[in-house]
Amino acid sequence: MFEDVDPKDLEEGRKYLMSGSVGGGLPIIVESGKGAVLKDSNGKEYIDCTSQAWTFNIGMSHPRVIEAVTEQINKITHVRTSFETVPKLLALKKIGEIAPADLKKISFCLHGSVANESALKLAITNNPDRVKFLSPFENYSGRTLATIAGSWPYPPICKLFSGFMEHFIRIPNAYCYRCPLGQDYPKCGLLCAEYVKTMIERGCEPVIAIILEPFQSSGGMIGFPDGYLKRLREICDEFGILLIFDEIQTGFGRLGSMFGCELYGVYPDILTYGKAIAGGFPLAGVMQRTSLKPPEPATDSFTFAHFPVSLAAAIATLDVMKEEKLVERAKVMGEYFTSRLKGLQNKYEIIGDIRGPGLMIGIELVKDRKTKEKASGACHSIVTESIEDGVIFGESKFKGLGNVLKIKPPFVISEAQADRVLEVFEKHIKKQQDKL
Ligand SMILES: Cc1ncc(COP(=O)(O)O)c(C=O)c1O
Repeated sequence: MFEDVDPKDLEEGRKYLMSGSVGGGLPIIVESGKGAVLKDSNGKEYIDCTSQAWTFNIGMSHPRVIEAVTEQINKITHVRTSFETVPKLLALKKIGEIAPADLKKISFCLHGSVANESALKLAITNNPDRVKFLSPFENYSGRTLATIAGSWPYPPICKLFSGFMEHFIRIPNAYCYRCPLGQDYPKCGLLCAEYVKTMIERGCEPVIAIILEPFQSSGGMIGFPDGYLKRLREICDEFGILLIFDEIQTGFGRLGSMFGCELYGVYPDILTYGKAIAGGFPLAGVMQRTSLKPPEPATDSFTFAHFPVSLAAAIATLDVMKEEKLVERAKVMGEYFTSRLKGLQNKYEIIGDIRGPGLMIGIELVKDRKTKEKASGACHSIVTESIEDGVIFGESKFKGLGNVLKIKPPFVISEAQADRVLEVFEKHIKKQQDKL
């Protein structure tokens, strides 16, 4: 299919792409993918350290996923949510079995942002007399009208959509490399969390829930210090506030454990998942504690929500993850990358901080280690120029805006591929270091 395509038709098509969506920023027309490698329409290969928006944890085009979806497509591609299907019930069983703690009531939809909206609605249903959500600076919840308020909007977006952001209050995050309260951990006694407590005690607007990623990804690859999530949990319990963990990126092994809450030993009341669950097919959803009141009928219903093709893909993906021990592999490969990167940090001053764990690696670039002035331009140049060398890195925030480079490849990345990624990274980091 598409073998005889005329490049002029593609250029013609490009003209119709609406701006505002992220699309069209990279010079690659993707043709295929296998494992950790993407191939473009000219046959050039790239090791993809973005796992295509962190969805291909088990690798691209896994044969088991392809087999499962092909079988399903040949039967039926769409079934209304009012009906049950075998993939739906089996996916529920498999996800239910690994769902952490008693987060055993599960819903489906097709996008992480929609899952987060469902979580917000569920929280309102359970705390109906309250009005505000809290989410930390740099948090990312999605791009729908409600979730954008819990994301990291910078001034133009804040202004445009401010009318829809009034239900969110942003709280200082536990970003120890750049503490927003100017403190040093652990001497600070987790002042950022205590500040939240004071806000709740003294503020006049009752809080429905705190929503946050247990490890902040899009906003800058920020892991929290020991004790922070636990303290938030305690504060939530004290004030009857629900805790929502957005595990859309951290779920399904990215941190080297199946879910972030298990790694940190802190469990939310509501957890959202998405991205990697279905091996590259769209699927997301909510897990809620069984003790919570369920959503009111018809408050959370979407035409394609129980898409049987994605559900079949999810079953295969979870089987592959278990059989190929991929969560353990994410941990091992994460340690491999991180220890090599720490070695590079000793050589290149521009590497300010290296964060993990697992294959959730963020490298914060700075012009000066003392002042920590952000090297956003350098980060963007490394990402752009490495493409020529066949490696795709991620960058935090919109292109050119963030100074954190991301290495988050599929877990099946080989040692040889990891070495190549590090070789390309060093080539470009050296170039940027020399320019300072
Ligand atoms: C942590 C987190 N939450 C929510 C979303 C939104 O998911 P989606 O783009 O599928 O709507 C993303 C997407 O990048 C994410 O990383």
